[in-house]
Amino acid sequence: MSFRRRRAATVAAVIALPLLLAGPVAASPPHPAPGQDGGVSDELLVIGHRGASGYRPEHTLASYELAARMGADFIEPDVVSTSDGVLVARHENEISGTTDVADRAEFADRRATKTIDGAQLTGWFTEDFTLEELRTLRAVERLPDVREENTLYDGLFQVPTLDEVLELRARLSRELGRDIGVYIETKHPTYFDGIGLSLEEPLREDLRQAHLDRPRSPVFVQSFETANLRELAEGGIRVPLVQLLSATGAPYDLVAAGDPRTYADLVTPAGLAGIAEYAAGIGPDKNLVIPRNPDGTLGEATALVDDAHAVDLLVHPYTFRNENTFLPADLREGTAPDDYGRAIEEQLRFWEAGVDGIFTDNPDTGVVSRQLFVESGEQAAA
Ligand code: G3P
Ligand code: CA
Repeated sequence: MSFRRRRAATVAAVIALPLLLAGPVAASPPHPAPGQDGGVSDELLVIGHRGASGYRPEHTLASYELAARMGADFIEPDVVSTSDGVLVARHENEISGTTDVADRAEFADRRATKTIDGAQLTGWFTEDFTLEELRTLRAVERLPDVREENTLYDGLFQVPTLDEVLELRARLSRELGRDIGVYIETKHPTYFDGIGLSLEEPLREDLRQAHLDRPRSPVFVQSFETANLRELAEGGIRVPLVQLLSATGAPYDLVAAGDPRTYADLVTPAGLAGIAEYAAGIGPDKNLVIPRNPDGTLGEATALVDDAHAVDLLVHPYTFRNENTFLPADLREGTAPDDYGRAIEEQLRFWEAGVDGIFTDNPDTGVVSRQLFVESGEQAAA
């Protein structure tokens, strides 16, 4: 089974399809992106968002490993820094929501209030812990009300370093016989620059040591900010970069520099052309690709995918999740927020809209929706 992009039949037709067809399909023009074999590829990607965070506490080695075993092409570590400059995998530098730090009496005096990207936060921050100290903490489920099953694993796993994630990637690639990619996001780069813990230098060094700093390495580097990506590109980083795009607000580096541009400006054709100067793709909030109607149902696709493809940018929207609470109103099943709804149907709408990959907390669901989409195209072409 090859998972290249091609136009599919309607969602209704797709859902009626049996999983019978296999074999090669016609490829669309390639993009400058790493594929499963480490080379330029137009493969449709399933990206394990924070690993398989629908099933394990996010950003743990267990979460990443499960994602790879479920068929994810890429695993996605977000990275922040410790006080001694080591990159670790956390969605944010404030760690009370994803570790047991608040229960650790020995770290009670580390509780602090800080301003991060213009917002005041109180809690415990990775930059106030050495790696050795951080390693004594244990990960917990971020969403215990929605993902009660995941709390089974609370307290079992450490906060991994990026180095460890890259080592896991190498081991699983050997074992599974396919190149597992890493899709690394630097979090709060302007903030970390400001406290003397710049993320980009250790990132480049970690990639170099893992022999993943090459044009054909299965790596993307992503950020919601712009200046750090531009600097990486100008500094000659050889792996593709992805500009993340929020549905609201503005990149914090632009805010800090007094630049009035917002994400809404970046998703215009002119904004996308500017992104294409330094990036290989965009990672938009999925609502920028297919917004929801006022009643919460899934609406119609915007021009974003076509506009991005017109300037050779890949489109990898985030974040697809199985639970009702995250789904459009018309794709929910029942009323329990944590029950699964018709997530596959949602994802098929996005594949049909032409996206090149999806970030999902449930990589197994992403693999199924991609397979259905590709098979629908094969059947339509037969
Ligand atoms: O990086 C894609 C997606 O992960 C962006 O959202 O907040 O989950 O990092 P976030
Ligand atoms: Ca991310």
